Amino acid sequence: MKHLFPILTKALLQVEEGASAQLILDEYRQRVPEDSWGLFQTFYLGVLEWQSHLESILKEFSKLKLNKYPKEDRYLMLLALYGILFLRKPPYAIVNETVELFKRKKSRLAPMANAILRSVLREEDLDQRVYGRMTPKQKMIKKYGYPVSTTSTLLEQLGDKKAEELLLYSKSIPRTDFVILGEEEEVLRMLEEEGHEIKPLEVERGYSFVKMNRPLEKVKAFKEGKIYIQSNASQVLASLIPEGKTLLDLCAAPGGKSIALLARDPNREITGADLTKDKLRMIRENLDRLALDLDLKQWDATEENPAWLEAYDTVLLDAPCSGTGVLHRQKGESADKELYDLEQLTLQQDEMLTHAAKYVKNGGFLIYSTCSILRDENEKRVEEFLQKHPNFTVVNLSQDEAFYRSYPEEGEDGFFACLMEKNEG
Ligand SMILES: C[S@@+](CC[C@H](N)C(=O)[O-])C[C@H]1O[C@@H](n2cnc3c(N)ncnc32)[C@H](O)[C@@H]1O
Repeated sequence: MKHLFPILTKALLQVEEGASAQLILDEYRQRVPEDSWGLFQTFYLGVLEWQSHLESILKEFSKLKLNKYPKEDRYLMLLALYGILFLRKPPYAIVNETVELFKRKKSRLAPMANAILRSVLREEDLDQRVYGRMTPKQKMIKKYGYPVSTTSTLLEQLGDKKAEELLLYSKSIPRTDFVILGEEEEVLRMLEEEGHEIKPLEVERGYSFVKMNRPLEKVKAFKEGKIYIQSNASQVLASLIPEGKTLLDLCAAPGGKSIALLARDPNREITGADLTKDKLRMIRENLDRLALDLDLKQWDATEENPAWLEAYDTVLLDAPCSGTGVLHRQKGESADKELYDLEQLTLQQDEMLTHAAKYVKNGGFLIYSTCSILRDENEKRVEEFLQKHPNFTVVNLSQDEAFYRSYPEEGEDGFFACLMEKNEG
């Protein structure tokens, strides 16, 4: 740790000064020795993830106000706190090494650092000590570090217990699932030769990395476009979309569902639309790497497109949403974003659904999906849509459930999907 903490403090300070957390991570990958990279990443991501909690602890135990610490020293303390509280490493070794670093810098904070870290280690109920005087909402805002509006919405919609479970899960490192494109046996052999540990998922051609032994960009099958990274839930959702010749994917970027559909049926004619040129470029880059193609169109899904009326066997509306089912994937900068105004989002979802419905041929299908776990964005949108569109009927997605749902607390991305058939009307 001794050799890593000074360089970690520099990296974390750059993020504090406004640099992108991912770009800084990429930059340090070149500088940090290969055998220390795993530990560097663990500390770097861990402190960013738990910064609010670690600062709350430091504030509680420190006589010196946080804004009086030299910035590098504050990060040194946060790194040490992360190490003693979250990692299975001998905590007193971390304390001693941190204090030694302070001494080496001839910092007058050395004795205080020692006292703080040792008191934290001795504390029997840290949560009670740090958050005991706060309301559950204040505690969740401070402990998990999400914006006030995100935390309030989750509490209102899910209740204290479920909201806290979700916020805790959002701190975990997400799984890397993938779909195999191309010849399955050959790709499995390539992965095995590089020594990765993988396991099959429930969907055909779906797998997950149990242990990836190099950065993703260096995995040969990824570089050669033979695998596509996509969560299990997203793969399952794509597999529920009925067969059909033509499909319109109204909110397609970065292309995950359309790519999964193309991989299964290369003859399906897919139009992928999204709001901006940049988003279309993202889809194009993914398609190029995978040597696939689909028709791309820049379009605002809240506007009607006369050329698409009754033109498609299937229309997929994977709507922009709060992303509450995938908080664990939104690390670094995106985690700081306020949850959008839920009312605005649901109005936009209704508007998009109304247009999407017009593009479906009679006898065709409309799929509405989100990566939200909030009823307001899921079941309620479908209920309102069906009231206004009696010519659509829900097709059950499993034996006992009308909708498809996957849950973060079960280790999956939180997705929702509803399949509806259009009848003459
Ligand atoms: C949940 S993501 C879609 C994920 C994609 N279907 C996939 O599987 O990879 C929602 C997308 O909606 C797009 N979007 C947001 N507002 C839009 C609008 N008004 N019209 C069209 N697309 C929009 C966003 O750019 C974003 O790419």
